[in-house]
Amino acid sequence: MWLTKLVAFSLLVAVATAEQKKLSPHASTLADSSVRLAFDLYHSMAKEKDLDNLLISPVVVSSSLGLLHLGGQSSTAAQVKKVLHVDKVSDEQLHAGLSELLSEVSNSSARNVTWKIGSRLYGPSAVTFTDAFVQSSKKHYNCEHAKINMKDKQGAVKALNEWAAHTTDGKLPEITKDVEETDGAIIANAMFFKPHWDEKFHHQMVDNRAFLVSRSFTVSVPMMHRTGFYRFHEDKENKLYVLNMPLAHKKSSMIFIMPFHVEPLERLEKLLSRKQLDTWISKLEETAIALSLPKVGMEVSHKLQKHLGELGLTEALDKSKADLSKVSGKKGLYVSNVFHASALEWDTDGNPFDTSIFGSEKMKNPRLFYADHPFIFLVKDNESDSILFIGRLVRPKGEKMRDEL
Ligand SMILES: *[C@@H]1O[C@H](CO)[C@@H](O)[C@H](O)[C@H]1NC(C)=O
Ligand SMILES: *[C@@H]1O[C@H](CO)[C@@H](O)[C@H](O)[C@H]1NC(C)=O
Ligand SMILES: *[C@@H]1O[C@H](CO)[C@@H](O)[C@H](O)[C@H]1NC(C)=O
Repeated sequence: MWLTKLVAFSLLVAVATAEQKKLSPHASTLADSSVRLAFDLYHSMAKEKDLDNLLISPVVVSSSLGLLHLGGQSSTAAQVKKVLHVDKVSDEQLHAGLSELLSEVSNSSARNVTWKIGSRLYGPSAVTFTDAFVQSSKKHYNCEHAKINMKDKQGAVKALNEWAAHTTDGKLPEITKDVEETDGAIIANAMFFKPHWDEKFHHQMVDNRAFLVSRSFTVSVPMMHRTGFYRFHEDKENKLYVLNMPLAHKKSSMIFIMPFHVEPLERLEKLLSRKQLDTWISKLEETAIALSLPKVGMEVSHKLQKHLGELGLTEALDKSKADLSKVSGKKGLYVSNVFHASALEWDTDGNPFDTSIFGSEKMKNPRLFYADHPFIFLVKDNESDSILFIGRLVRPKGEKMRDEL
């Protein structure tokens, strides 16, 4: 009896492992380093004053860093590995690993998730890219190359924004209003991400509700509602909820971290670390949840150069120190701007599921997860553990409802 069970179990394991394409060891190392980068960057950015919504893709930032390593020499290149915490990884493995990771996690057809990613390196008019650099950066990072005439600043900004709009099917019409430093190269990422839930919402279970940006400022947003079984944890000590929502095929999940009540997110952000996230995840338990989420889009564009500088990437961004001679065959080029822009759309779309759960006894008294105030969220890959996105929704688009003192 136990033998048949054992055989059946082994078969199951064999099927599961055959389906899951394992990442190579160096891609796993880079997946791990993208997680460290996620928290490093988030904390650096959260210090920025007047920044409300935040949205970054650590995996894509890692690939921009990989691009700089490809174009860099000596200490300019070495700094990239430091920022990624991969000093011991060989150059070859760095690029192969990042490339494998990115193509694995962004495979829309395998994952049934919309994720359009555009990456471009803009060089000033005088620069000529070497063939070797163009080829290798295309191969590893899907990076396009273009020249931009910064003497015509308005035209340059327009070209950047038109490229972003085109890359994202119009979801991200603007990544910047201005370019401050006009003598360097520009790295730009433009993305559109739309999660496809493992279990969809009913498209009619949507209505307008109040979202409390703060205690005194409320906007009206459409909210989508459903009940279901989700992995959930109530952290009573820290007064917050953690909820895991699987995306299609359970290859990744969106994890929400939300305080019990409306409050500035600083308190949660102080807690936010890789270790704490792992602790929260380990405490998640399958729970019947009555869930309400804003059905909104967010478009966020960040200038990352200052933050990458804070993490130790100083040379590539410094005119007097940069050695990016593998980009053009000679010194003199530096990176003046790193635009990282994404549009994210929360919607009802997802896979059909077994609706008989609604009749079940366990679904009778669901816990409430009502996301009507600012929260932090992550998209975490189930296989590589890498973080595809990390962000916070503080101020959704919507009509102002109330503004009291
Ligand atoms: C995406 O995954 C599918 C399998 O689902 C595979 O056939 C295809 O080659 C992958 N594409 C890339 C770019 O890796
Ligand atoms: C996800 O799968 C559904 C059902 O097969 C399909 O209709 C939808 O277009 C897919 N979406 C993406 C982004 O692959
Ligand atoms: C990760 O994938 C496994 C196998 O498909 C699945 O059982 C599990 O629920 C997934 N985890 C999450 C957090 O989605």
